[in-house]
Amino acid sequence: MQRKTVLVTGGTGYIGSHTIINLYEHGYLPISIDNGMNSDISSLSKIEDIIGVRIKHYNIDLQDLTKTETIFKEQKIDAIIHFAALKAVGESVEKPFLYFRNNLNSLLNVQECAQKYGVKAFIFSSSCTVYGEVKSSPVDEYTELQPAESPYGRTKQMGEEIIEDCIKKSDMKAVLLRYFNPAGAHLSAKIGESPINTAQNLVPVITETAIGNRPCMKVFGNDYDTRDGTCVRDYIHIMDLAEAHTLALDFALYRQQNQVEVFNLGSGSGYTVLEAINAFETVNNVKLSYEISARRPGDVVAIYSSYEKAKNQLYWQPKYGIKEIMQSAWEWEKNRNLTK
Ligand code: WQD
Repeated sequence: MQRKTVLVTGGTGYIGSHTIINLYEHGYLPISIDNGMNSDISSLSKIEDIIGVRIKHYNIDLQDLTKTETIFKEQKIDAIIHFAALKAVGESVEKPFLYFRNNLNSLLNVQECAQKYGVKAFIFSSSCTVYGEVKSSPVDEYTELQPAESPYGRTKQMGEEIIEDCIKKSDMKAVLLRYFNPAGAHLSAKIGESPINTAQNLVPVITETAIGNRPCMKVFGNDYDTRDGTCVRDYIHIMDLAEAHTLALDFALYRQQNQVEVFNLGSGSGYTVLEAINAFETVNNVKLSYEISARRPGDVVAIYSSYEKAKNQLYWQPKYGIKEIMQSAWEWEKNRNLTK
């Protein structure tokens, strides 16, 4: 049977690369587009190593509408998964213009081309940061959105609204996936999170510290109103997250009734920063060097998910937990340093 073509923007990025592998393994034909702003082009050869096929890749900046449209002229695109965006909460507070310009212009261009060329399904990489500072967790899709705590979160709130407004005139179906904290690596340890610049997310900071590439890591504040004073997050294994995208695509192409559907993608459990560090140390038998420092602007105190809707409608649920996240992240970091 002819494979349906799926344009994966941000295809050489962390979630994009893992999702390309899952899409191909489930009968889709992914095409990657990425400008390498925050990802490693070598992901393509690692993907090839895992699936045995070289995925078609376009090195294009999605902020360039003319260049973006060339892809739609060359390829028959059945669906799009739009990952391409900058996604570091702390960095977005420092660089709001970069985040609004990059994340919104890219989305507008891809969405405009998708409608012009009759794309049937649009999966949007949204985020739990759209919920803002929630009053309690677990958070479900009906939880009222609070003001975003960071420009990054604001770009995701605005992104969801842009899609809802722009899609009305088309027969496209859109699925908005609100990720909690993606973490961990492919079980082969051949691919994982490899930020171009210094890591900003907790788990890669932990593994960089453990392997000695960072002398000591900082815990951003231990005076929050939580069980040990550090922030609570819901860490979701990247392999579970990749699987969820393929299931969301199946849903959008073959079952979706409403034009726009929103789903939380999280593990349903919350861990404090110190608990996450302890989980890493315990499962890998490695002692971490860390110090308590000032709070990081843009952080919410605590948030974790309910994924019941994704379970009932996407037939998805996480297979892995914090132990597998920390194990796979560590295996990837060790492997990654072998080739440095
Ligand atoms: C987690 C916790 C930090 C680094 C991420 C993604 C975002 C979105 C939501 C998908 C916070 C603390 C971190 C460090 C620390 N996901 N921390 N020392 O900010 O929750 O956002 O998940 O869209 O894209 O970025 O993740 O890993 O940066 O922080 O203490 O060196 O770890 O303060 O409490 P965050 P994070």
